[in-house]
Amino acid sequence: MKLRSQDWFGRTGKDGFIYRAWMKNQGIPDDHFDGKPVIGICNTWSEFAPCNAHFRELAESVKRGVLEAGGVPYEFPVMSLGESVIKPTAMLFRNLMSMDVEESIRGNPMDGVVLLTGCDKTTPASVMGAASVDLPTIVVSGGPMLTGRFKGKAIATSDVWRYADGVNTGEVSQEEFRSIEACMCRSRGHCAVMGTASTMACMVESLGLTLPGNAAIPAADSRRKVLAQMSGRRIVDMVREDLKLSKILTREAFENSIKVNAAIGGSTNFVLHLLAIAGRMEVPVSLDDFDHLGSDVPLLVNLQPSGDYFMEDFYYAGGLPAVVNQMQRVLHTDVITANGKTIAENCSGVESYSKEVIASFDDPVQKEAGIVVLRGNLCERGAILKPSAATKELLQHRGTAVVFKDIEDFHARIHSDALEVDRNSVLVLQNVGPKGYPGMPEVGNMSLPKRLLEQGITDMVRISDGRMSGTAFGTVVLHVAPESAGGGTLALVRDGDTIVLDVPGRSLHLEVSDEELAARKSTWQPPDLGIRRGYVAHYLKHVQQADLGADLDFLVGSSGSEVTRDSH
Ligand code: FES
Repeated sequence: MKLRSQDWFGRTGKDGFIYRAWMKNQGIPDDHFDGKPVIGICNTWSEFAPCNAHFRELAESVKRGVLEAGGVPYEFPVMSLGESVIKPTAMLFRNLMSMDVEESIRGNPMDGVVLLTGCDKTTPASVMGAASVDLPTIVVSGGPMLTGRFKGKAIATSDVWRYADGVNTGEVSQEEFRSIEACMCRSRGHCAVMGTASTMACMVESLGLTLPGNAAIPAADSRRKVLAQMSGRRIVDMVREDLKLSKILTREAFENSIKVNAAIGGSTNFVLHLLAIAGRMEVPVSLDDFDHLGSDVPLLVNLQPSGDYFMEDFYYAGGLPAVVNQMQRVLHTDVITANGKTIAENCSGVESYSKEVIASFDDPVQKEAGIVVLRGNLCERGAILKPSAATKELLQHRGTAVVFKDIEDFHARIHSDALEVDRNSVLVLQNVGPKGYPGMPEVGNMSLPKRLLEQGITDMVRISDGRMSGTAFGTVVLHVAPESAGGGTLALVRDGDTIVLDVPGRSLHLEVSDEELAARKSTWQPPDLGIRRGYVAHYLKHVQQADLGADLDFLVGSSGSEVTRDSH
């Protein structure tokens, strides 16, 4: 087969001279240009993305594997997004990062790609970009942190919300709160619960884009490096087999991933990212698929934020292969994965070493899990809720709205004694959607009013067009579409309106007449955020609503890997 990289390095004359000569300034021997598969290692390393800060070392393991298999590795940097650090929100830049990944892959002489991904958005952004090129591609996740410890208690990211509430009620001192920081993040790696990063690592494994076992190996475990090295070996063979992304990312693979996400109690962010990846591959996946395919799948994994344990425990219990093995009866088990084997071949016989952490399909942690899709006049294009993170008694609820016009309004008033709110109120947050914030921040799990917390209230119904951290929990309706800044009904809700949430009936309804809503709409104006230039202005013009994955409209689909013109 003719390698793509030979269109650069295999040329004669001035062109070939230029393509090879400048590469040789790195000390590369001549025979490396003679038709060996060239593997790009797409590195999301950044010290501002602390979850990915160990990736240069991981890249060395990948390189070793590539060389062992007869390939030639080249590491290249792309934009990285540190969820805990970057402002205003990492999601604003997911699509931008995907463009960087896409153009870096297409524009350079590589035959296959290894995506090094970790912190939340770095995985979907990398896969979205790679999907729009469609070369043989394998993903290596950076792995979760080791479980934190504070005063002998196991802790991880989901405890941030609990301890922050504890500070509000006076149960946790400022000094303790400060010392928890280092206790929680005590090793390299990403968040140690089934938050978005772990969900994304499971997503790529369940889609078949990684070697089996990729998702759960802790970042600090030496076996993480072994997996990286084996992935380096494998990508060279994937090039020889021409095992492109489009051969792996089929409709069946997406269906599998939706079901596996339900079984692991994965983050609600999964919905947005999987829709966006499917859009790049032009595989039809709709918002309703998440409910139809996932909501009768039992919850098999008992991990925070929905459950009790941590990613480290998940690995010791068998990791994702043990979950997939339990689920074979509801999955498409004959789909091909990155190692060239089917899911059945990869997972058959992998047992759970702890039924506490990974339960069996017949005796699950919870009978029904997944993500529920709601419809109604408050969310005509849909909204989502994760029942396993919610309070059972609130899944059918009627309450009066307490409305915040944006996140600043929320922060200014939520703890005020003047706020008219009680445990049955429904907190409504407007203008935190893809356009409204912009960037759809993770603020949907609004903190509860201090005086209700002091009364021992731990959950209330909350509704917004924003997202929720995968490490958070509560009876939280998210991703309302159309969003308030796009003229959705959410923009028209006023204090005191009655809202009816019926999760079993899949509805979310605002009890205000159509006439009254039309009157309110006639005076509604979209917010002017004052953004006139740069990427964000472009994003505002082109970002799609949450039900389509919040990708930019002009990025949907693929342009392939061919570059037809060059300037030499
Ligand atoms: Fe990076 Fe949680 S902040 S995974």
